[in-house]
Amino acid sequence: MQQRIQIFDTTLRDGEQVPGCGLTKSKKLELAKHLEALGVDVIEAGFPISSPGDFQSVRLLAKEIKDASICGLSRAVKKDIECAAEALKGAARPRIHTGLGTSDQHVFTKLKMTHEEVIAKAKECVTYAKNFVDDVEFYAEDAGRTDNEFLAQVVEAAIAAGATVVNIPDTTGFCMPEVYGAKIKYLKDNVKDIDKAIISAHCHNDLGLATANSIAAIKNGAGQIECTINGIGERAGNTSLEEVVMIMKKHEWMGFETGIDSKLLYPISRMVSETMHMPVQPNKAIVGANAFSHSSGIHQDGVIKNKDNYEIIDPYEVGVNKSSIILTARSGRAALNFRLAEIGVNLSKDELEETYQQFLTMADEINVVEDDDLKHLVKNYNHVFSK
Ligand code: KIV
Ligand code: ZN
Repeated sequence: MQQRIQIFDTTLRDGEQVPGCGLTKSKKLELAKHLEALGVDVIEAGFPISSPGDFQSVRLLAKEIKDASICGLSRAVKKDIECAAEALKGAARPRIHTGLGTSDQHVFTKLKMTHEEVIAKAKECVTYAKNFVDDVEFYAEDAGRTDNEFLAQVVEAAIAAGATVVNIPDTTGFCMPEVYGAKIKYLKDNVKDIDKAIISAHCHNDLGLATANSIAAIKNGAGQIECTINGIGERAGNTSLEEVVMIMKKHEWMGFETGIDSKLLYPISRMVSETMHMPVQPNKAIVGANAFSHSSGIHQDGVIKNKDNYEIIDPYEVGVNKSSIILTARSGRAALNFRLAEIGVNLSKDELEETYQQFLTMADEINVVEDDDLKHLVKNYNHVFSK
């Protein structure tokens, strides 16, 4: 029996905070509908107090999206919470996400509060939010750098006040996976009534560890992962949704599952990239342009013999039509022959050898050899091309 991990998507809030990624109301709704179809459990729609436009966006999503919880962010401030509650009116499953910083760095230099005041504020903001909605998520900002004993006290206060979810953000992306995992376990072992709330992992990618940290979190008792499509988000970004989902899928032995329809991952990745003007790096796991393309001769030969030699994911599983063999000067005869066969050209051994030598000269010059270049190479053999 697999444990169902909740997927909390924050593409439209933490992702949208990135300069240049801002969305109009209608674009937010369009993406939210795709996130709903993808099967995310929660959509963080925005930060309603931040601007009238964001308030309107959250309000629109609250009205239109029925299959996912709609969440609005707020600080631990009454007017923020009231504004979030107002924007969420009419939502089938509204959630208010409220909280404050808990690390000494945040408590003493940003909030200028005492530890006792932070605990009181945690209790107060959750209690206040509960007047408007049943589902209240509390975040302990910079939990990654917060002393575990103090963090446990804050989380305990939030749960006592009625928090249904307790978010433990590694806001600065500082933690190592074993440290973040141990933090979650510490809370599991030391917070009274911890099982009354879901523990949530919210990781940033400043050291490239957001995905590893999120997986460490669920292995130690977290029940929700906060993530974004393509890993977009503040600075180096957030945990990438497609990565954590496929890790759980590929490593079933860990005992986790999600409600995500993985065949929609690639299409939604393209859509987010285009709509939010954020290119996906070609070597990005799961959704990068090169994620399913093979370019070195050794790999190409292996994959032509049997895909499993170099593919751990069937591209179809994530919505990519098929993997590709890219022809460069590093490609071998097997790859050339394979690509020729794809355009309907079958050469004799001698013809292939001759073509291969010409191909290498061409590839050294133009780098990637495309179908039209191949047709040019074999034009003297009078073949009828199939494509
Ligand atoms: O990274 C963070 O701490 C956040 C909180 C507002 C949840 O995004
Ligand atoms: Zn964040």
